[in-house]
Amino acid sequence: MNIAKNRGGSNMESICVMQGDGIGKEIIKEAIKYIKKMCEIYNKNIELKKAYIGGEAIDKFNTPLPEESLNIIRGCKAVLLGAVGGYKWDNVEAEKRPEQGLLRLRKELNCYANLRPINIYDELKELSPLKERILKNNIDILIVRELTGGIYFGERGRFEVDGKIKAFDVEEYYDYEIKRICKIAFEYARKRRKKITLVDKANVLESSKLFREIAKEMALKYEDVKLEFMYVDNASMQIIKNPSYFDVILTNNIFGDILSDEASVLTGSIGILPSSSIGDVNIYEPIHGSAPDIQGQNKANPIGMIICSALMLEECFDFKNAFRMTNEIIKKILKSNYKTIDLKDKEEDIVVKTSEFGDLVINYLNNINLNDN
Ligand code: IPM
Ligand code: MG
Repeated sequence: MNIAKNRGGSNMESICVMQGDGIGKEIIKEAIKYIKKMCEIYNKNIELKKAYIGGEAIDKFNTPLPEESLNIIRGCKAVLLGAVGGYKWDNVEAEKRPEQGLLRLRKELNCYANLRPINIYDELKELSPLKERILKNNIDILIVRELTGGIYFGERGRFEVDGKIKAFDVEEYYDYEIKRICKIAFEYARKRRKKITLVDKANVLESSKLFREIAKEMALKYEDVKLEFMYVDNASMQIIKNPSYFDVILTNNIFGDILSDEASVLTGSIGILPSSSIGDVNIYEPIHGSAPDIQGQNKANPIGMIICSALMLEECFDFKNAFRMTNEIIKKILKSNYKTIDLKDKEEDIVVKTSEFGDLVINYLNNINLNDN
């Protein structure tokens, strides 16, 4: 189904807002505050339409991604998503788990390319577990994760043989799925430091071998980009030992999921990292989860979510410089030692609540003069 072609409704451009579960609710609140203020500053009119996903949708519609939500998305230019999942739904049947709503959403919107930039704020360097000598080289990695294929979507099941239970999950990729994600990686590498590390397990997996063949062939068309290969076990070591070695990391769905959490630790907190998923309708979601252990306490870090919103406004709604400007604001706030609890490190740090951090962003925006940008 091609959702983008079914856009209808009013002429006003819209964002579909899906808060989901856990801290999703709290951080989306801050994103909405931010988006409304940005619309004021940029003099634009954007409609925000709420839709249900994950556990919240299970409770209301008995499915993690109801048709109602897909219908709303059909009228929107982008989806802004908090997080899904929580203890409450741990025991629902596999097909109805909150996470399945997210996977189906990615598939329905054809969001096959997930971009996860890993950068370190100077202001948070001390929070990184890495040694200063490793951190002094700039860390700027873009993880290009395939998002609608592989083991997440392959056949899975269980059967019984001779009284023994066997479970299986299939890692499978079509050539066209690999080609399109490789193309995205090459295009981004071209705009960056022109190096791609394809991370795989080609010493064991057939799907990894196909990935290598296709990437090699594509490299012939991108002479300015250097392509190299690294096994995933080695890559997970090198990300810690020598992170500045990497420019673009191109990888499949499951390795991308794991490596992006690993790489996030380098930055000091997973709470600050955004991601965008490119498809018929783009999805913007922070890379962290729903953190049910701290939900409802107004202490989650809204930075990843706010940065996602900035990326979305710039990429889908033409808010020029929104990302750079917002990033600068976040840096200023951190520099003045205002931190959510996950970022507290020094004596002089002033711990603020989720909503207070959002207010600080708004305060800065109130004093912004767009002509200065
Ligand atoms: C992510 C998450 C999801 C994934 C889960 C919630 C299904 O971990 O976006 O990284 O594995 O893709
Ligand atoms: Mg993950």
